[in-house]
Amino acid sequence: MHDIIEQLAEKRKAACLGGGQKRIDSQHAKGKLTARERIELLLDTGSFEEWDMFKEHRCTDFGMEAESVPGDGVVTGYGTINGRLIFVFSQDFTVLGGSLSETHAEKICKLMDHAMKVGAPVIGLNDSGGARIQEGVASLGGYADVFQRNVLASGVIPQISLIMGPCAGGAVYSPAITDFIFMVKDSSYMFVTGPEVVRTVTHEEVTPEELGGAITHTTKSGVADLAFENDVEALLMIRRLVGFIPANNREKPPTWPGQDPADRIEFSLDTLVPNNPNKPYDIKELILKTVDDGDFFELQPDYAQNIVIGFGRLDGSPVGFVANQPLVMAGCLDIRSSTKAARFVRFCDAFNIPIVTFVDVPGFMPGTAQEYGGIIKHGAKLLYAYAECTVPKVTIITRKAYGGAYDVMASKHLRGDVNFAWPSAEIAVMGPKGAVEIIFREDKGDPVKIAQREAEYRARFANPFVAGARGFIDDVIMPHETRKRICRSLAMLRHKQLTNPWRKHGNIPL
Ligand code: HXC
Repeated sequence: MHDIIEQLAEKRKAACLGGGQKRIDSQHAKGKLTARERIELLLDTGSFEEWDMFKEHRCTDFGMEAESVPGDGVVTGYGTINGRLIFVFSQDFTVLGGSLSETHAEKICKLMDHAMKVGAPVIGLNDSGGARIQEGVASLGGYADVFQRNVLASGVIPQISLIMGPCAGGAVYSPAITDFIFMVKDSSYMFVTGPEVVRTVTHEEVTPEELGGAITHTTKSGVADLAFENDVEALLMIRRLVGFIPANNREKPPTWPGQDPADRIEFSLDTLVPNNPNKPYDIKELILKTVDDGDFFELQPDYAQNIVIGFGRLDGSPVGFVANQPLVMAGCLDIRSSTKAARFVRFCDAFNIPIVTFVDVPGFMPGTAQEYGGIIKHGAKLLYAYAECTVPKVTIITRKAYGGAYDVMASKHLRGDVNFAWPSAEIAVMGPKGAVEIIFREDKGDPVKIAQREAEYRARFANPFVAGARGFIDDVIMPHETRKRICRSLAMLRHKQLTNPWRKHGNIPL
């Protein structure tokens, strides 16, 4: 018995070494942690239960019999984050570059199947050279098996991807389907075709970092949500993100009793909106002064900055915030911001997270670039997302709510549950200037008359009371009581029941 136990210990030790000390050193030299070190940081200390540590590939081509390493380049299992169950896979770049073989894929699929059965999130730590070249189509099949599970799990259990090394070719499509993608600066990249293929096909000279690094994907493409300086920071931020989301689509998000009183008054908000309606202000100030303890977890902060999205808590319960940002493009909705917010709204809806929307939107962005790019279709995504969503929706119009954008931003008409406006709200088809130029075209050459008409229009329509008179606004509230009023509304909505008509699935404009 003693021998067998010793053998087991030896086998475990060998498996834990992955591709060997030399490759581990090389991984460290690149500033990267190993697959197991990453899991240790991600999960609560000592909570990791590993599966399939001894699983090996079955490939015999290209001398692969001699290249077998226990675990086959991916560490899989489950553990906890702050005591809550989490499934995790972590690709081991020291084993054949973390490349995905048929058996490597089987390990990931087993884990995902279990996560679906018990209803717990899956976190994937990606660091892989892609399909195991020696295995050919068997590894492609393995990828597709993972993709299929990603799709079936979408909206059922949260899926989070952290890109910590290469992720190229079709391999990018597994993270792409997951709910959140985090990347590590300078050591991770994602692209469908690498710089060499790009050079051959389009004659562009581009580095891997420029083509698909963390900065590119968090500023230009919007593929990734957040970029971090190193592995440690990225892993700790995943732990933080997990604190806002439920384990699955049947549960409510976890509550944390806070010290921040739900009825806290914030008088500084009374002067947040400038007197001049064309002057910007920072909507994040409103979010930070509304959430519990000023703790706001912003997503995609460097992409489509004209809209702000992220999680916070109100009276201890997680909430998704969507807010137009007057500081950037006057808070206009364009293609990027509509898509960014739509996906977030759908995540919140799928996982029972109430949505608080702060509105200050002068409309959709005009111009050929937007029209040719399909703003009609992309803007419709946000409309669709808000309209189909059944979680509690509380909306506060702080200033402008013009035109179609008024309708789209969680208006009463799209089943907004509680819709408030600040006294500074202007709810109208368009701004006074544009409206007067159309209605009183004959006065165009007379600046005095135009100014007078504008003042008349502003007095008549640029306020919250016309909408209030129709019941489109439930109440006009003082800015300083915003937190209190939202918290009360969400408490009232805690047991909200609303279901959409049965259908196989809707057909959101893609
Ligand atoms: C088998 C691989 C591998 C792969 C890397 N390795 N990628 N083995 N299949 N896909 C091995 C290397 O041979 C090497 O083995 C070790 O991993 C480390 O690789 P290096 O090249 O030394 O590391 P580095 O210089 O950091 O370069 C990393 C890399 C490069 C950029 C990822 O290895 C690379 O370009 N690999 C090929 C990538 C690729 O073309 N993959 C297929 C993409 S198509 P030793 O023994 O020397 O340590 C694809 C389709 C998916 O993935 C489709 C899904 C539908």
